[in-house]
Amino acid sequence: MKITPTNSLVGAYVEDVDLSTPIESDAIDELVSAWHKWGVLFFRNQNLNDEQQVAAASIFGDPVPYDFAPTTEGSEIVHKIDNEDGKPKGGSSNWHTDATWLKEPPRGSMLQAIKLPSSGGDTLFASMSAAFDSLSPATQNFVDGLTALHHGGSKLNAANRIAKKVPEDAVSHPVVRTHPVTGRKCIFVNRLFTQGINELNAQENEALLPMLCDLTLRPELQFRFNWEEGDIAVWDNRSVQHYATADYSEARVMHRVVLAGDPVE
Ligand code: SIN
Repeated sequence: MKITPTNSLVGAYVEDVDLSTPIESDAIDELVSAWHKWGVLFFRNQNLNDEQQVAAASIFGDPVPYDFAPTTEGSEIVHKIDNEDGKPKGGSSNWHTDATWLKEPPRGSMLQAIKLPSSGGDTLFASMSAAFDSLSPATQNFVDGLTALHHGGSKLNAANRIAKKVPEDAVSHPVVRTHPVTGRKCIFVNRLFTQGINELNAQENEALLPMLCDLTLRPELQFRFNWEEGDIAVWDNRSVQHYATADYSEARVMHRVVLAGDPVE
């Protein structure tokens, strides 16, 4: 197996692994440790069926049903991100971590490109541990220990943000989480789902929350993956955010498996 980091702070390519066949335990250890280190792994030309994709995802955690998207035919776990009509759907084209409105958001997600437009449809990834490291010690100290409210709130308008009319089912998470394996601190607020920092007033939120969310925009912290059909990307939601570019007008179909979450601490 060959693992080659991208030319960025996030992501690594894995070669000489066939995810459609059982992987030996030494290789599993190597893959999992590279995943923790680089946040997202890319495997070219895998072309997995549903069963193989679920088995491959189980290298990194427990694949679980995801009730918020349609499944593929015959699977309870693999679900479709289906832009068959060539019209990107809004949510994914915001920097986010998957489903932070859950009490225990998915540990990670594995995405496979099934059908791609002739150009466009890249996915970008940003390292949230590098984002934390990029802050001054004074800001690190200040934000570490704060908590923020999350909701599936792309439907909440700006006036409702910042904890004004946040629904009862919103959940609170630390603004900075500690990765349970690497021990690295990771910024854990995002543009799509975070509604406000609990301990700050509205004016302070207006200033600080966008600043923290938009650390994803720093090119130094990003990697942009250009898909080919059959490629797999598996990312660690605890330390990485992602963004699906909405720059195409032909069909784009992806199959995704999410991994059971763990407590955000
Ligand atoms: C996602 O947001 O999980 C999907 C990303 C993509 O379709 O590239």
